Amino acid sequence: MSEPIDHPPGHEDAQRRENPDPTESERPFPLPLLALVAGLLLWGVGYILTEQRNDDAAWGDRRTASTLEAQATGAVDGAQLYAAQCAACHQASGAGLPGAFPPLAGSEWVTGDPRRLADIVLHGVSGALTVKGTVYNGQMPAFKDKLGDVELAALLSHLRTQFGNSAGAVDARLVAETRAASAARTAPWNGDDELAGYK
Ligand code: HEC
Repeated sequence: MSEPIDHPPGHEDAQRRENPDPTESERPFPLPLLALVAGLLLWGVGYILTEQRNDDAAWGDRRTASTLEAQATGAVDGAQLYAAQCAACHQASGAGLPGAFPPLAGSEWVTGDPRRLADIVLHGVSGALTVKGTVYNGQMPAFKDKLGDVELAALLSHLRTQFGNSAGAVDARLVAETRAASAARTAPWNGDDELAGYK
């Protein structure tokens, strides 16, 4: 058993009067560096927000930015796609231009077999093609690398239900199956010669 230490009277007051040991205040973060970091952050956010994701769809799994957006929002505007991709040649009314671009309004190619229609737009057409009794001999571009399945489905459905046409809508699965079936094709369809006997 040890004896309690005998402190002089009033030692607690003396302890309380002590100040804590002084410490050196931390160096503040340099302001120019802070500004630089904030600037980089802002630039990064701005870059992400403004960057156009229009890389070639062939680099990835062939889904275009608008297909992904469509899958996210569940909506693709076939009318808008038509105006952007087709109306320059086939005209806003779908009536085409006599002697140059065939009509989509009332066209048997548009209202007929939806797989044949999908194949026409996927691969394009060249050579003599008879539309509503008139022979055209132009070049229809291929859209297989430009438009995804969901977009094409919306676009083809638009063609088949507008311009006075009243054929059934086309779904993305049919477009995907058609695309897979004709994946080996590299040239446009050779007009009536190939398309009239379309399987
Ligand atoms: C650069 C002009 C041009 C553009 C753009 C174009 N086409 Fe065509 N299209 C043609 C020509 C020319 C033909 C006829 C080809 C031939 O004579 O062999 C044709 C033929 C067609 C046909 C078959 C014939 C008919 O009139 O029904 C369809 C269907 C068609 N195009 C749909 C489309 C769709 C859908 C788009 C947009 C995704 C589009 N085209 C974009 C020029 C174009």
